[in-house]
Amino acid sequence: MTEEPGEDDAAPEVPAYPDLVERIVNLSKRRGFIFPSAEVYGGFRSTYDYGPLGVLMLRNVKDAWWRSMVQMRDDVVGIDAAILSSPRIWEASGHLANFTDPLVDCRNCHERWRADKIDGTCPNCGSTDLTEPRAFNLMFKTYAGPVEEDATVAYLRPETAQGMFVNFLNVLTTTRKKPPFGIAQVGKSFRNEITPQNFVFRTREFEQMEMEYFVPPDEADRWFHYWLDERMRWYLDLGIPAGKLRLRHHDADELSHYSAATADVEFLFPWGWDELEGIANRTDFDLKAHAAHSGERLEYFDQSTGERYVPYVIEPAAGATRTMMAFLLAAYDEDEVGGERRTVLHLDPRLAPYQVAVLPLSKKDELMPLSRQVLGILQPVAVCDFDTTQSIGRRYRRQDEVGTPYCVTVDFDSLEDHSVTVRDRDTTEQVRVPIDRLAEEIAGRLRC
Ligand code: GAP
Repeated sequence: MTEEPGEDDAAPEVPAYPDLVERIVNLSKRRGFIFPSAEVYGGFRSTYDYGPLGVLMLRNVKDAWWRSMVQMRDDVVGIDAAILSSPRIWEASGHLANFTDPLVDCRNCHERWRADKIDGTCPNCGSTDLTEPRAFNLMFKTYAGPVEEDATVAYLRPETAQGMFVNFLNVLTTTRKKPPFGIAQVGKSFRNEITPQNFVFRTREFEQMEMEYFVPPDEADRWFHYWLDERMRWYLDLGIPAGKLRLRHHDADELSHYSAATADVEFLFPWGWDELEGIANRTDFDLKAHAAHSGERLEYFDQSTGERYVPYVIEPAAGATRTMMAFLLAAYDEDEVGGERRTVLHLDPRLAPYQVAVLPLSKKDELMPLSRQVLGILQPVAVCDFDTTQSIGRRYRRQDEVGTPYCVTVDFDSLEDHSVTVRDRDTTEQVRVPIDRLAEEIAGRLRC
């Protein structure tokens, strides 16, 4: 079942760029967003490294999430839990028993597939001679300490969520929050995916942005719908077009073992609608499971009413790396400026790696002191690039291609009139701004 803004039965859009994923992969490599990992050794199994621009953008995605989920609220606090974690956590959460995918081997070409993602036919060679599916646990197992034995087994967390559940009491007692309240976390998770694919859409190492919102059980449904609205709004506010975003409610037979209701925020990727985020009513499953396994009372005691209960949990769980890819795909465009073709990323200024590029018109020494002075004025209000290479037109193109919303050009007139030219990425409009009003002007534009 789907909800606005995207429509399930809407006519499929003709993609503007049929090879868009490839273009984003190339742009990412060429301009320093995302590199294949260990490339000098021929790469390493669908792992990726974030380059100088990628690290800025990914941080912006996570900061935008944190700002809306934690900073702008008084009912959500953050934590940063360990990635190496006790098997007892994963036993209680059900991951040791249930966090599996059905794996099949093709007897003809020996490729491995997730049985639920193929149609009884090997996508590689077309053979129908496949093994029976067997359950494959997705958690990465390792050993904490020098001896590799059962007692030292540890797991890399496959989700950040359990860190919030096992710290429920710590947070409750140290912050004195009462339901409804949330615990948020952003960080790496690891899953030994059988078929990592589509660039950073599905990888074995990725980043999540999750929040567990603890509520009185009889308010769970209301808060579930509240978070559906809030999360849809977040993506739209940061520039995902309404036609490329939809909510898809899970049917009963699709729900995870812990969930009473789940809806996915889906984005229209070049290969079709696919998940950006899952929002689930996890009931009291996790707190009760950890209470049963640990012997701790993971409850809320309301001193004013004398009431004691196990809160329900509403969980918006998003992928940071996957969402960054969606923002790149949605922002990509090619158009013509002054008869010249350009590639442009229409990224929201809050997500763009650089908000401003300071560009001296020429490399001549005369312009450098003032250009550096302008850079120094802008660095406290925006993340800035400083580029002196090539012609000014070429440099505008380079900035458009990585989504820099504003270019500030220092020219020879600037030495006389103490003004600079501010160029807007999307309209390419240029205006002259006095240097003593520049920081205010840029800060004002970035706030809009
Ligand atoms: N705590 C619930 C949970 O982890 P999930 O739907 O498995 O739910 C949440 O994961 C989000 O994490 C997904 O919607 C997706 O954006 C991201 N994610 C999950 N597996 C991923 C992978 N292998 N690569 C990249 N992102 C992934």
